[in-house]
Amino acid sequence: MDDVLSRAQALARHSDSSRHYTRTWLTPAHQAAARQLAEWMRAAGMAVRVDAMGSVIGRYEGPAGAKTLLMGSHFDSVRDGGKYDGVLGILLPIAAVAEMHRQGERPPVAIEIAAFSDEEGARFQTSFLASRAMLHGADSVRPLLERRDADGVTFADAMRAAGLDPARADEARIDPKRLCAYLELHIEQGPVLLGRGAPLGVVTSIAGGSRHLVTVRGEAGHAGTVPMPMRHDAMAAAAEMVLAVEECAARANLVGTVGIVTVKNGTGNVIAGEVEFTVDLRAPDDARRNALESEVLARFDAIASRRGVKVEASKRHEVRAAPCAPWLQEQVAAAIASVGAQPLRLPSGAGHDAMILAEVVDVGMMFVRCGAGGVSHNPAETVSPEDAGLAARALLHFLRNFRAAGAS
Ligand code: GLV
Ligand code: MN
Ligand code: MN
Repeated sequence: MDDVLSRAQALARHSDSSRHYTRTWLTPAHQAAARQLAEWMRAAGMAVRVDAMGSVIGRYEGPAGAKTLLMGSHFDSVRDGGKYDGVLGILLPIAAVAEMHRQGERPPVAIEIAAFSDEEGARFQTSFLASRAMLHGADSVRPLLERRDADGVTFADAMRAAGLDPARADEARIDPKRLCAYLELHIEQGPVLLGRGAPLGVVTSIAGGSRHLVTVRGEAGHAGTVPMPMRHDAMAAAAEMVLAVEECAARANLVGTVGIVTVKNGTGNVIAGEVEFTVDLRAPDDARRNALESEVLARFDAIASRRGVKVEASKRHEVRAAPCAPWLQEQVAAAIASVGAQPLRLPSGAGHDAMILAEVVDVGMMFVRCGAGGVSHNPAETVSPEDAGLAARALLHFLRNFRAAGAS
């Protein structure tokens, strides 16, 4: 079996920054990582194509006429992220296919591995860009074309610079009817498996989420001269809104996060005139998330009117909660049991490309235990070689014994 963890470490050297691991959509480092993944897929006996959004897709044939089991995950990262988030779900399937190829085995169905080019969306504040484009083509890409990254480069120009054609985004679409299932392996990104002493887990469902970009407009002014009662400080208002997100989410027993706050033309001796921040809300069921969202937005309005500032929230992203198909959960559980581990069942609080694929096909997920206290989206994220080895063996069992729903 190929050494999945050393490959993850080697891939992390393709980073936008020399100081930390950050790989964002279509940068030179991202393109180099795509070439490396394509090479590993080819070496595993797969036919490889790159789609219109820069995703790398390898195919390993099954019996003639058989449907395709799609596996995969993403190879972009958050800023200063962990080396295994996403990448593990590409490298483990490549290693499993490589092993079958070495043994001259054909799987019971055709296998495709999608290395999705953008899931985190750190460069253009997108999310699930590549898997959405695989299902919705140009419709999902068109509204983004004029969006700019932190350096002012438009989304469309970033595509052109990487040799992709924004006018051909529709070609990323696949025909979902040829799929029988989607399976994603992923580091858990939390402490549950670690706490329970279980190396692998069966995911039962994936929490839904929404993201807003909020703009607060107050009045810029001199930090030394404007008396406190006369201020319309956009930053102070935003700070109160951030705390409202925390309070509402905690009260609802859900999660809410403000990950970016930007003061427009921020200066140490100027009262902030305009502040932008992001809000990420997640819940295992969509009704509870919608209720939280309404409450948070109402709180923003109340804070803004009390402080005499304006607030505007625009929804940038929404994804529904996605259950994992019971029949795939059973086969993932059997695969985990086959390597002598207990198939612990748990939901996913993090988002995954599987949520998008769930719109058109049954999805399943296997989690691999996350070390270092379960921390992820953090450079300390880690997986042990033993757990990666168990995951690789469990995946091989899954593939060798895979039966599509309804197949006898
Ligand atoms: C993806 O990592 C997400 O859950 O935000
Ligand atoms: Mn992530
Ligand atoms: Mn991920």
